[in-house]
Formats: sequence, C-alpha cells, structure tokens
Amino acid sequence: MLHLYKKVVPAIMISSVAVYRFVKGMINKTATFFSVSWWRLTTYATRKKLGLLRIKIYENLTFDHLSTSELMSIAKHEAHRIEKAHYSGYMKTRKCKSYDISYGHVCEILVLLESRGVDMESADIRWLKKVTDYFHRMDEFLEEGKGELPRFDPEKFVEFEQKAKQRRSTRTWGESSFSKAELEEIGRSLIECARWAPCSGNRQPWFFKLLIEPEEKILLRGIKEEHCVSAPLVIFVGVRKSSYGAIGTNEQGMYVDGGAVSMQMVMAAHAAGLGSCWNHFCKDFVYSRPKNLPIFKNFYEKTGIPEDIEPIALIAFGNPAFVSPPPQRPPFEALCPRGEQG
Ligand SMILES: Cc1cc2nc3c(=O)[nH]c(=O)nc-3n(C[C@H](O)[C@H](O)[C@H](O)COP(=O)(O)O)c2cc1C
Repeated sequence: MLHLYKKVVPAIMISSVAVYRFVKGMINKTATFFSVSWWRLTTYATRKKLGLLRIKIYENLTFDHLSTSELMSIAKHEAHRIEKAHYSGYMKTRKCKSYDISYGHVCEILVLLESRGVDMESADIRWLKKVTDYFHRMDEFLEEGKGELPRFDPEKFVEFEQKAKQRRSTRTWGESSFSKAELEEIGRSLIECARWAPCSGNRQPWFFKLLIEPEEKILLRGIKEEHCVSAPLVIFVGVRKSSYGAIGTNEQGMYVDGGAVSMQMVMAAHAAGLGSCWNHFCKDFVYSRPKNLPIFKNFYEKTGIPEDIEPIALIAFGNPAFVSPPPQRPPFEALCPRGEQG
C-alpha cells in the first residue's frame, strides 16, 4: 500500500503541475491573442481616423493620376530619404533594398514630370536628378556638398537665452515709419529666413502672403483681433496640402511645418528689434464660430490664396508701442521633471 502511495502521489503532483502550466500557458496565449488583436484594432482605427492608412499603399503607388505638385512632393520626400540613408549608413545594411524602391519612384516621377512639360532646369528638379544620377555613388555626392563643421560654444546659449526671454507678443503698434517698399523688403527678408526652417520629409510646403495694404488687412476685421488689422505688416502663413501627396491631406506634420516657419519669422523679427504677434489661423479656429467662415472665404478670395493652401497663422509685425510684462512661465521642473524621463 505504501509502495503504491509513493508512486501515485508524485504522479498526481507532476501531472497537476503539468496541467497547471498548460492552463496557465493557454490563458496567457489567449490574453496575448486578444490584447494583440485589440491593439491591432485600435491602431487600425487610429490610423484610419488620422488618414494614415493610405501610407500602406505607398510602395505600390501609381503616379500618373497625381497632380504635378503631389508628384514633386513625393519625389522630394523620396530623394530626401535616399540622402538620409547615406548619411546614416543604411546603404551598407540590409535596409538598402527599400531605397531601390525610392530610387525607382524618383526616376519614374522625373519621366512623368518631363512629359508634362515641367521645367527640368528648376532647382528642385536639378537636385532630384543629381540624387538619382549619384544613387550608386552617393559618397561622391556627399563629399561634394559637404559644409564646414560647426563648433559648440556654450556662451552662445546664454546669449540666445537672454534674447529669447526678451521676446514678447506685440499687440500695440507705434507710429509706422516704414514706407510700403520698406515693409515689402522686411516681409521678404522674414520669408527668406523662414524658408530655411526644418520641415517634415523635406517637403518645404509653405505658402506666404504679405499683407501691407489697409484694404487687405481690413479683410481680417471680425475674424481676427484688431492688432492684425492695425499692424503695419501681416504675413499669412499657409501650407500646400498637395505637398503631402499620397500620404494624405490631414497629416499632422502639416501644422508642425507651418509652426516651424512661423517661429523662424518671429525670432528673426525679434533679432532685428521688430515686434511681432503670432495669431492662430488654423481651420479649427476658422470653424469655431459660424460668423468666421464667410469672412475667411472672402479673405481667401480677395487675396487670391489658392484653395489648396491650409491656413496656419497670421503673423503681425511692426514697431512695438508697448512691451507687455512677460507671462509667468511654468518652472523648469514642471516641464522637464527629474526622474520621470524615458
Ligand atoms: C499657435 C499660436 C497661436 C496664437 N494665437 C494668438 C492669437 O490668435 N491672438 C493673440 O493675440 N495671440 C496669439 N498668440 C500669442 C500668444 O498669446 C502668446 O505667445 C502667449 O500668450 C505668450 O506670450 P508672449 O508671446 O509674450 O511670451 C499665439 C501664439 C501661438 C504660438
């Protein structure tokens, strides 16, 4: 009896452990299956909501139905990916295969653009052609275009920090001593600084409109605050929706790209002692009140801004008549808490 007991008890114990492990494994697998499925489902829903599902078909794009600006934007994006792949050393890894697709896209688009009578000597096209010509010997391309290496100077941080702290949004303008021609010159210089801002996928999708004439600025009355109407110079900032090509019109990068140029202009003006106020002009604002829409449409129509341009900001510039006290900034620790990084 004892002999039997010694055999049966361990057998029961071992099989209980095995059953326990099996059941636990099954529960884990089922939980993983459902959580992965749930994750896939929610990710799909989010991507769909954001219009990002179309990215999936990016590799199998057919180009001929796209507009010229969409083609340009895709080609620039792809050429930019090829360039980056070389900087990052991807061309020497297995990832290099995906750049053959990008190379194919750029070549195909160049042929299409030529057949549509696009100026093949424009700066953009010359750059695209160069990237494709040098595709198999990009090291030479990079060697040719190499710039001087900058050197880190911590004192420059302090200088810039002080300058940044002195910037205030200006909403009260002094008597304008600028002629129309001078304002135009200032506006052009600000845009010249702005167009060197970083942007997503090197799309450079920007569109600007200088508003100097009172008849133009008055179109903003009723939709934006009075300091936009009274400012000597207002620059409308927009982004070309078609620059986002097949990736979709509602790509979030559109607003960030618009923000990058806006900030560049605000800081350039500040560096030259000019006051500025960035004014929100994105679609969410336009649609926030029913009365905005007709004013917005009239503004677009009268100033000749194309429909393809997504509005981002109206930046007002002029000599400040009043510098407001700086709004309190949250303490550094609240913005970048210690120990909560990563
Ligand atoms: C995206 C954005 C939208 C803004 N929109 C407006 C606006 O519509 N009207 C306005 O008077 N100021 C606007 N501002 C300016 C902010 O009110 C201002 O930057 C903020 O109060 C901080 O003040 P400071 O710029 O003097 O540091 C905007 C700023 C940004 C960055």
